[in-house]
Amino acid sequence: MLLSASILGADLGDLRAHARAAIEAGCEWLHVDVMDGHFVPNISFGVPVMQSLRDLAEETGTLLDVHLMIEEPDRYLRDFADAGAGLITVHAEACPHLHRTVQHIKELGCQAGVALNPATPLSCLDHILSDLDLVLVMSVNPGFAGQAYIPATKAKIAHVARRAAREHPELLIQVDGGVTPSNAGMNVQAGANVLVAASAIFKGTGTVAENVQAFRDAVSS
Ligand code: DX5
Ligand code: ZN
Repeated sequence: MLLSASILGADLGDLRAHARAAIEAGCEWLHVDVMDGHFVPNISFGVPVMQSLRDLAEETGTLLDVHLMIEEPDRYLRDFADAGAGLITVHAEACPHLHRTVQHIKELGCQAGVALNPATPLSCLDHILSDLDLVLVMSVNPGFAGQAYIPATKAKIAHVARRAAREHPELLIQVDGGVTPSNAGMNVQAGANVLVAASAIFKGTGTVAENVQAFRDAVSS
């Protein structure tokens, strides 16, 4: 299980220190939630914030996992790749030419992911699944940290995992939204192998290190 710490939950006034704390606590990836106020009803941050994390990511060997919750993502793929993205995930709902977008991400030297909103069926990836490095199963409606996990996600993850076992065993299955130590084990059992968390890592009950350890304990028990 890989843990991707969403910097949306960090104190952006002290972003590098908070990101470093998550990495030192054992988070393998940093999750960068980019929101445009159009695809989702919130605005977060963009390329300059990514750039401020680039050195830290290189120094520590941490993958920058960019989740683009934006319309027309093709316009910005190169900028995010140049800013150090290792993986770029776009939303299926925002990409009328999803095949072209995925190829574009790969041509830029990044791993390619596609995210599905809670109401978006997996069948929209029928003809592209084998081209993907990652499927992101949204467990909240995207736009905000701190929302509650939607219970139907568990069955959707299991569905992705069954398809992946048959068609693409290396596929990474990421779950994002309301993920906590309490539901981490259930998500991993269903088939998720990358957990994203903002609030539970940066705003949990303990220190960042304790919060990350709680995830490890939850999946190893
Ligand atoms: C939601 C974002 C998530 C968010 C998760 O739109 O894509 O990555 O930061 O936040 P928590 O873990 O607080 O639900
Ligand atoms: Zn996200």
